[in-house]
Amino acid sequence: MKRVDDFRLRLGKHELVPIMVGGMGVDISTAELSLEAARLGGIGHISDAMVPTVSDRRFNTKYVRNKLAQYKFNVANSDKSVVQFDLALLAEATAMHVGRTMEAKRGPGLVFINCMEKLTMNGPKETLRVRLRAALDAGIDGITLAAGLHLGSFALIEDHPRFHDAKLGIIVSSLRALQIFLKKNSRTGRLPDYVVVEGPLAGGHLGFGMDWAEYDLATIVAEIRNWLIAEKLDIPLIPAGGIFTGSDAVGFLEMGASAVQVATRFTVTRECGLPEDVQQEYFKASEDQIEVNQISPTGYPMRMLKNSPAIGSGIRPNCEAYGYLLDASGNCQYIEAYNREVAAHPEARKVKVFDKTCLCTHMRNFDCWTCGQYTYRLKDTTRQNEDGSYQLLSAEHVFRDYQFSTDGKISLPE
Ligand SMILES: Cc1cc2nc3c(=O)[nH]c(=O)nc-3n(C[C@H](O)[C@H](O)[C@H](O)COP(=O)(O)O)c2cc1C
Repeated sequence: MKRVDDFRLRLGKHELVPIMVGGMGVDISTAELSLEAARLGGIGHISDAMVPTVSDRRFNTKYVRNKLAQYKFNVANSDKSVVQFDLALLAEATAMHVGRTMEAKRGPGLVFINCMEKLTMNGPKETLRVRLRAALDAGIDGITLAAGLHLGSFALIEDHPRFHDAKLGIIVSSLRALQIFLKKNSRTGRLPDYVVVEGPLAGGHLGFGMDWAEYDLATIVAEIRNWLIAEKLDIPLIPAGGIFTGSDAVGFLEMGASAVQVATRFTVTRECGLPEDVQQEYFKASEDQIEVNQISPTGYPMRMLKNSPAIGSGIRPNCEAYGYLLDASGNCQYIEAYNREVAAHPEARKVKVFDKTCLCTHMRNFDCWTCGQYTYRLKDTTRQNEDGSYQLLSAEHVFRDYQFSTDGKISLPE
C-alpha cells in the first residue's frame, strides 16, 4: 500500500513532499507552523488576514492603537467610509510579517501566504495590490489567492519583478470558478502554478451555498482534472477539505492530484496560533457541535463550533481599529445587523446579534472557532491526560503522520 511519501509535488525547480498546510487566518497558521511544514519539505502558509494586528502581537508594533486614535471621532457613526487604511503602513506591516518569516525559513520546503481577497478593507483594489506586492517584495515563496477571488488579481502584480518567479495559486470550489478565473487572467499570459480545489468539508469560509452537503470533493477534483486534460493544461491540482489521514491523501494522489492541502489536524498543534483553551474545545467537539452558518459578514457560509463566543455577541462594530471587511463604500453587513438590534432595543445596555458577527474582532480574539467538518475526530489523534484534557501535538508529528501512515491509521504521540 502506498504512502504520501511515495509521491512528490513538482513546482518549477522544487521537488516537495506533497503536503501543504493551508492558510488559517487570523494567525492560526502562524509563522512557526508554516516554518515547520517548510523544514519538513512541504509547503506551509502564513495568512495575510489582519496583518497589522498580527504584527502588533508578533513585533509589538502599534498599528491598531494608532488607527483607532486617528479615527476615534467616527466610532459612533455608522458610516465608516472615512476609515481608510494607510497603504504605506499596510505595506510596512506585511513586509515585516513576511520578511521575518522568510528569514527564519530552514529546510527544502516553501512558505506561501494565503491572501483572502474578501478582505475588502474599504478599498478593495488598492489594499489588495499593496498586500500582494509587499509580500513579493519581502521574499514570499508563493501566494495562494483564496475564495472571493478578485478576477483581476494577477493584473495587480503583472509588472512586479517577481511575477514569474513567485509561485501563484488560486483556491476554487468548482470547475466554473476556475474557468472564469483563467479567462479573466488570460491577458496576463500567466497560468496559476497550482490550483487548490477546496471541497465542502473544509474549515473557514466555504465556496458553496448552504447546499454544501450536496457536493463531494472527489467528484469536483475529477471534473476539473478531466477538463484540464482535455484543454491540455498542465496545472497541479491540490484537493483540500476533509483529508484527515495519510490514506485519504493517497486516494487523491492516486487519482491524479499533485498534493493535498490540510489544515484541521494542525489546529491542535503547539505551533498553531489558537490559545490552548480553544484547542481543548476543538478536541472535545462532537459532530453535532459543528455547524455551517451564515453569520460571516462576507456573505459566505462558514463552518465553526456552535459554542463559539462570536455567535450572538452584540459588540459595537470595531471598524476604526480593524475594518477589514468594509466594502468599497465603507459598509459591512454586521454594522447593519447591529444597528437594527440597537434600534429595536433602545433601552438595552447590551444587544444580542445572531444573524451576523463582528468577524474582525472575534477572529482577532480567537472567539470565532472556525474548523473543518472532521474536527470531531481530533480526539482520536492524541492521548487524553488524567485530568480529561487532551495532549497537544507537534506539527512535525502530524506532518509525518500524513507523510508515512498507511491503512487509514493515525499514529498517536509518545
Ligand atoms: C481554523 C481554520 C481557519 C481557516 N482559515 C482559512 C483562511 O483564512 N483562508 C483560507 O483560504 N482557508 C482557510 N481555511 C481552510 C484551510 O486552509 C484548508 O483549505 C481546509 O480547512 C482543509 O481542510 P481540512 O481542514 O479538513 O484539512 C481554514 C481552515 C481552518 C481549519
